[in-house]
Amino acid sequence: MQVIIAESGERVGQLAAAKVAQLVRRQPDAVIGLATGSSPLAIYADLARQVRAGDLDCSAVRAFALDEYVGLPVDHPESYHSVLRREVVDPLQMDPGRLHVPDGMADDLAAACAAYERRIVETGPVALQILGVGANGHIGFNEPTSSFASRTRIKTLAPQTRADNARFFASPEEVPAHCLTQGLATILDAAQLVLVAQGTTKANAVAALVEGPVTSMCPGSALQLHADATVIVDEEAAGRLRLADYYRYTYANLPVWQRFEGA
Ligand code: GLP
Repeated sequence: MQVIIAESGERVGQLAAAKVAQLVRRQPDAVIGLATGSSPLAIYADLARQVRAGDLDCSAVRAFALDEYVGLPVDHPESYHSVLRREVVDPLQMDPGRLHVPDGMADDLAAACAAYERRIVETGPVALQILGVGANGHIGFNEPTSSFASRTRIKTLAPQTRADNARFFASPEEVPAHCLTQGLATILDAAQLVLVAQGTTKANAVAALVEGPVTSMCPGSALQLHADATVIVDEEAAGRLRLADYYRYTYANLPVWQRFEGA
Protein backbone atom coordinates (compact mmCIF):
# COMPACT_ATOMS: atom_id res chain seq x y z
CA MET A 1 0.00 0.00 0.00
CA GLN A 2 1.25 3.45 -0.85
CA VAL A 3 0.39 6.15 1.71
CA ILE A 4 0.71 9.80 0.70
CA ILE A 5 0.32 12.59 3.24
CA ALA A 6 -0.59 15.83 1.46
CA GLU A 7 -0.39 19.33 2.92
CA SER A 8 -4.08 20.12 2.35
CA GLY A 9 -7.40 18.63 1.39
CA GLU A 10 -7.18 20.39 -1.95
CA ARG A 11 -3.79 18.77 -2.60
CA VAL A 12 -5.29 15.36 -1.71
CA GLY A 13 -7.79 15.93 -4.51
CA GLN A 14 -5.11 17.06 -6.98
CA LEU A 15 -2.93 14.02 -6.37
CA ALA A 16 -5.80 11.56 -6.70
CA ALA A 17 -7.06 13.44 -9.79
CA ALA A 18 -3.59 13.14 -11.32
CA LYS A 19 -3.87 9.35 -11.08
CA VAL A 20 -7.31 9.37 -12.71
CA ALA A 21 -6.22 11.79 -15.45
CA GLN A 22 -3.11 9.77 -16.22
CA LEU A 23 -5.28 6.68 -16.71
CA VAL A 24 -7.86 8.47 -18.91
CA ARG A 25 -5.14 9.99 -21.10
CA ARG A 26 -3.70 6.52 -21.61
CA GLN A 27 -7.11 4.87 -22.09
CA PRO A 28 -9.93 7.35 -22.95
CA ASP A 29 -12.69 4.76 -22.40
CA ALA A 30 -11.30 3.54 -19.07
CA VAL A 31 -13.74 2.14 -16.54
CA ILE A 32 -13.65 4.24 -13.36
CA GLY A 33 -15.32 3.41 -10.06
CA LEU A 34 -16.99 6.49 -8.55
CA ALA A 35 -17.58 7.22 -4.86
CA THR A 36 -20.01 9.73 -3.40
CA GLY A 37 -19.56 11.71 -0.18
CA SER A 38 -17.59 14.86 0.50
CA SER A 39 -14.13 13.24 0.44
CA PRO A 40 -13.80 12.79 -3.36
CA LEU A 41 -15.25 16.22 -4.23
CA ALA A 42 -11.76 17.74 -4.46
CA ILE A 43 -10.83 15.02 -6.99
CA TYR A 44 -13.85 15.78 -9.16
CA ALA A 45 -13.22 19.53 -8.89
CA ASP A 46 -9.65 19.14 -10.12
CA LEU A 47 -10.69 16.82 -12.97
CA ALA A 48 -13.43 19.28 -13.99
CA ARG A 49 -10.84 22.06 -14.06
CA GLN A 50 -8.68 19.98 -16.42
CA VAL A 51 -11.69 19.24 -18.65
CA ARG A 52 -12.66 22.93 -18.82
CA ALA A 53 -9.08 23.84 -19.69
CA GLY A 54 -9.18 21.36 -22.59
CA ASP A 55 -6.44 19.21 -21.01
CA LEU A 56 -8.62 16.17 -20.40
CA ASP A 57 -11.44 14.46 -22.32
CA CYS A 58 -13.73 12.26 -20.22
CA SER A 59 -16.46 11.84 -22.84
CA ALA A 60 -15.65 8.17 -23.42
CA VAL A 61 -15.04 7.23 -19.78
CA ARG A 62 -17.31 4.50 -18.41
CA ALA A 63 -18.24 4.66 -14.74
CA PHE A 64 -19.71 2.46 -12.04
CA ALA A 65 -21.09 3.80 -8.78
CA LEU A 66 -20.11 2.10 -5.55
CA ASP A 67 -23.57 2.18 -4.04
CA GLU A 68 -27.14 3.52 -4.08
CA TYR A 69 -29.91 4.06 -1.55
CA VAL A 70 -32.91 1.74 -1.62
CA GLY A 71 -36.25 3.43 -2.28
CA LEU A 72 -35.10 6.83 -3.57
CA PRO A 73 -36.34 7.51 -7.10
CA VAL A 74 -33.49 8.06 -9.56
CA ASP A 75 -34.47 11.72 -9.94
CA HIS A 76 -34.52 12.38 -6.16
CA PRO A 77 -31.77 14.99 -5.62
CA GLU A 78 -30.03 12.77 -3.04
CA SER A 79 -30.15 9.49 -4.94
CA TYR A 80 -26.54 8.63 -5.69
CA HIS A 81 -27.53 8.55 -9.35
CA SER A 82 -28.51 12.24 -9.14
CA VAL A 83 -25.52 13.12 -6.96
CA LEU A 84 -23.07 11.53 -9.40
CA ARG A 85 -24.76 13.22 -12.39
CA ARG A 86 -24.51 16.61 -10.63
CA GLU A 87 -21.05 16.30 -9.09
CA VAL A 88 -19.18 14.16 -11.60
CA VAL A 89 -20.84 13.36 -14.92
CA ASP A 90 -21.97 16.89 -15.83
CA PRO A 91 -18.87 18.83 -14.68
CA LEU A 92 -16.54 16.27 -16.29
CA GLN A 93 -18.65 16.31 -19.49
CA MET A 94 -19.02 12.54 -19.33
CA ASP A 95 -21.66 10.62 -21.28
CA PRO A 96 -24.60 10.02 -18.87
CA GLY A 97 -25.35 6.79 -20.75
CA ARG A 98 -22.00 5.45 -19.59
CA LEU A 99 -22.78 5.88 -15.89
CA HIS A 100 -23.98 2.71 -14.16
CA VAL A 101 -25.63 2.81 -10.73
CA PRO A 102 -27.27 -0.07 -8.82
CA ASP A 103 -31.07 0.04 -9.16
CA GLY A 104 -32.33 0.85 -5.67
CA MET A 105 -35.93 1.04 -6.96
CA ALA A 106 -36.03 -2.47 -8.43
CA ASP A 107 -38.91 -4.75 -7.40
CA ASP A 108 -36.40 -7.56 -7.07
CA LEU A 109 -33.39 -6.00 -5.35
CA ALA A 110 -31.40 -9.23 -5.18
CA ALA A 111 -31.77 -9.63 -8.97
CA ALA A 112 -30.72 -5.99 -9.45
CA CYS A 113 -27.55 -6.67 -7.40
CA ALA A 114 -26.72 -9.76 -9.45
CA ALA A 115 -27.33 -7.81 -12.68
CA TYR A 116 -24.99 -5.05 -11.47
CA GLU A 117 -22.23 -7.56 -10.75
CA ARG A 118 -22.70 -9.02 -14.24
CA ARG A 119 -22.55 -5.59 -15.85
CA ILE A 120 -19.29 -4.79 -14.07
CA VAL A 121 -17.78 -8.06 -15.32
CA GLU A 122 -19.04 -7.49 -18.89
CA THR A 123 -17.95 -3.83 -19.07
CA GLY A 124 -15.02 -3.93 -16.71
CA PRO A 125 -12.86 -4.69 -14.98
CA VAL A 126 -12.81 -1.39 -13.16
CA ALA A 127 -9.40 0.11 -13.87
CA LEU A 128 -9.39 2.57 -10.97
CA GLN A 129 -11.78 2.69 -8.03
CA ILE A 130 -12.08 5.96 -6.12
CA LEU A 131 -12.93 5.47 -2.44
CA GLY A 132 -13.69 7.54 0.62
CA VAL A 133 -13.95 6.06 4.10
CA GLY A 134 -16.58 6.44 6.80
CA ALA A 135 -15.63 7.33 10.37
CA ASN A 136 -16.31 3.69 11.30
CA GLY A 137 -14.04 2.39 8.53
CA HIS A 138 -16.78 1.60 6.00
CA ILE A 139 -16.06 1.75 2.28
CA GLY A 140 -18.95 1.99 -0.15
CA PHE A 141 -21.72 1.07 2.27
CA ASN A 142 -19.86 -1.96 3.58
CA GLU A 143 -20.38 -1.44 7.28
CA PRO A 144 -18.24 -3.16 9.95
CA THR A 145 -18.44 -6.99 9.83
CA SER A 146 -19.06 -6.96 6.07
CA SER A 147 -17.56 -10.09 4.55
CA PHE A 148 -14.35 -9.78 2.61
CA ALA A 149 -16.00 -12.14 0.10
CA SER A 150 -19.08 -9.93 -0.31
CA ARG A 151 -20.51 -8.92 -3.67
CA THR A 152 -23.12 -6.28 -4.56
CA ARG A 153 -26.00 -6.77 -2.12
CA ILE A 154 -28.58 -5.14 0.10
CA LYS A 155 -27.27 -3.69 3.36
CA THR A 156 -28.79 -1.93 6.35
CA LEU A 157 -27.04 1.36 7.07
CA ALA A 158 -25.42 1.67 10.50
CA PRO A 159 -27.24 4.26 12.64
CA GLN A 160 -24.04 6.35 12.65
CA THR A 161 -23.88 6.35 8.85
CA ARG A 162 -27.53 7.36 8.61
CA ALA A 163 -26.87 10.16 11.09
CA ASP A 164 -23.74 11.28 9.18
CA ASN A 165 -25.68 11.38 5.90
CA ALA A 166 -28.69 13.18 7.42
CA ARG A 167 -26.99 16.48 6.56
CA PHE A 168 -28.02 15.95 2.94
CA PHE A 169 -31.71 15.45 3.77
CA ALA A 170 -34.39 17.72 5.24
CA SER A 171 -34.73 15.44 8.27
CA PRO A 172 -32.86 12.35 9.62
CA GLU A 173 -35.96 10.17 9.07
CA GLU A 174 -35.73 10.83 5.32
CA VAL A 175 -32.37 9.02 5.05
CA PRO A 176 -33.15 5.56 3.65
CA ALA A 177 -32.40 2.70 6.05
CA HIS A 178 -31.16 0.39 3.31
CA CYS A 179 -28.83 0.53 0.35
CA LEU A 180 -27.28 -1.54 -2.40
CA THR A 181 -23.51 -1.56 -2.31
CA GLN A 182 -20.68 -3.20 -4.17
CA GLY A 183 -19.17 -5.78 -1.86
CA LEU A 184 -15.62 -5.80 -0.58
CA ALA A 185 -14.70 -8.55 -3.07
CA THR A 186 -16.24 -6.47 -5.89
CA ILE A 187 -14.14 -3.48 -4.86
CA LEU A 188 -10.99 -5.60 -4.60
CA ASP A 189 -11.49 -6.72 -8.22
CA ALA A 190 -10.60 -3.21 -9.45
CA ALA A 191 -7.09 -3.01 -10.90
CA GLN A 192 -6.21 0.03 -8.81
CA LEU A 193 -7.72 1.50 -5.62
CA VAL A 194 -7.33 5.15 -4.60
CA LEU A 195 -8.77 6.07 -1.19
CA VAL A 196 -8.88 9.68 -0.02
CA ALA A 197 -9.63 11.10 3.42
CA GLN A 198 -9.47 14.54 4.97
CA GLY A 199 -9.93 15.90 8.49
CA THR A 200 -9.50 14.71 12.07
CA THR A 201 -12.82 12.82 12.06
CA LYS A 202 -11.19 10.31 9.70
CA ALA A 203 -7.90 9.91 11.61
CA ASN A 204 -8.94 6.77 13.53
CA ALA A 205 -10.42 5.08 10.47
CA VAL A 206 -7.31 5.86 8.40
CA ALA A 207 -4.96 4.50 11.08
CA ALA A 208 -7.09 1.37 11.44
CA LEU A 209 -7.31 0.65 7.72
CA VAL A 210 -3.64 1.34 6.97
CA GLU A 211 -1.89 0.02 10.08
CA GLY A 212 -4.44 -2.05 11.97
CA PRO A 213 -5.25 -5.72 11.54
CA VAL A 214 -7.08 -6.93 8.43
CA THR A 215 -10.50 -7.34 9.95
CA SER A 216 -14.11 -7.06 8.89
CA MET A 217 -14.53 -4.73 11.88
CA CYS A 218 -12.74 -2.18 9.67
CA PRO A 219 -13.91 -2.86 6.09
CA GLY A 220 -11.33 -0.39 4.74
CA SER A 221 -8.58 -2.72 5.96
CA ALA A 222 -9.47 -4.84 2.90
CA LEU A 223 -7.14 -2.46 1.02
CA GLN A 224 -4.23 -4.25 2.68
CA LEU A 225 -5.13 -7.28 0.56
CA HIS A 226 -4.87 -5.32 -2.72
CA ALA A 227 -1.66 -5.20 -4.74
CA ASP A 228 -2.16 -1.62 -6.01
CA ALA A 229 -3.82 0.51 -3.35
CA THR A 230 -2.98 4.17 -2.69
CA VAL A 231 -4.22 6.07 0.35
CA ILE A 232 -3.99 9.86 0.05
CA VAL A 233 -4.75 11.86 3.19
CA ASP A 234 -4.26 15.34 4.56
CA GLU A 235 -2.26 16.09 7.74
CA GLU A 236 -5.38 15.89 9.95
CA ALA A 237 -6.52 12.53 8.63
CA ALA A 238 -2.91 11.29 8.98
CA GLY A 239 -2.83 12.39 12.62
CA ARG A 240 -2.92 8.89 14.11
CA LEU A 241 -0.61 7.10 11.68
CA ARG A 242 2.32 5.65 13.61
CA LEU A 243 4.56 5.43 10.54
CA ALA A 244 3.73 8.93 9.21
CA ASP A 245 7.43 9.88 8.97
CA TYR A 246 8.14 6.73 6.98
CA TYR A 247 5.34 7.56 4.51
CA ARG A 248 6.71 11.08 4.09
CA TYR A 249 10.20 9.67 3.51
CA THR A 250 9.06 7.12 0.93
CA TYR A 251 7.00 9.72 -0.94
CA ALA A 252 9.94 12.14 -1.01
CA ASN A 253 12.06 9.31 -2.46
CA LEU A 254 9.55 7.77 -4.88
CA PRO A 255 11.24 5.44 -7.35
CA VAL A 256 10.73 6.46 -10.99
CA TRP A 257 8.39 3.52 -11.65
CA GLN A 258 6.01 4.66 -8.93
CA ARG A 259 5.83 8.31 -9.95
CA PHE A 260 2.71 9.73 -11.55
CA GLU A 261 2.04 13.05 -13.26
CA GLY A 262 1.46 15.77 -10.73
CA ALA A 263 3.10 13.84 -7.86
C1 GLP B 1 -20.96 7.48 2.50
C2 GLP B 1 -20.60 6.74 1.18
C3 GLP B 1 -19.16 6.32 1.15
C4 GLP B 1 -18.31 7.47 1.64
C5 GLP B 1 -18.56 7.71 3.11
C6 GLP B 1 -17.80 8.90 3.68
O1 GLP B 1 -21.85 6.83 3.30
N1 GLP B 1 -21.43 5.62 0.90
O2 GLP B 1 -18.80 5.94 -0.18
O3 GLP B 1 -16.94 7.17 1.48
O4 GLP B 1 -19.93 7.77 3.41
O5 GLP B 1 -18.43 10.11 3.32
P1 GLP B 1 -17.70 11.51 3.38
O6 GLP B 1 -16.66 11.48 2.33
O7 GLP B 1 -18.77 12.51 3.11
O8 GLP B 1 -17.12 11.62 4.75
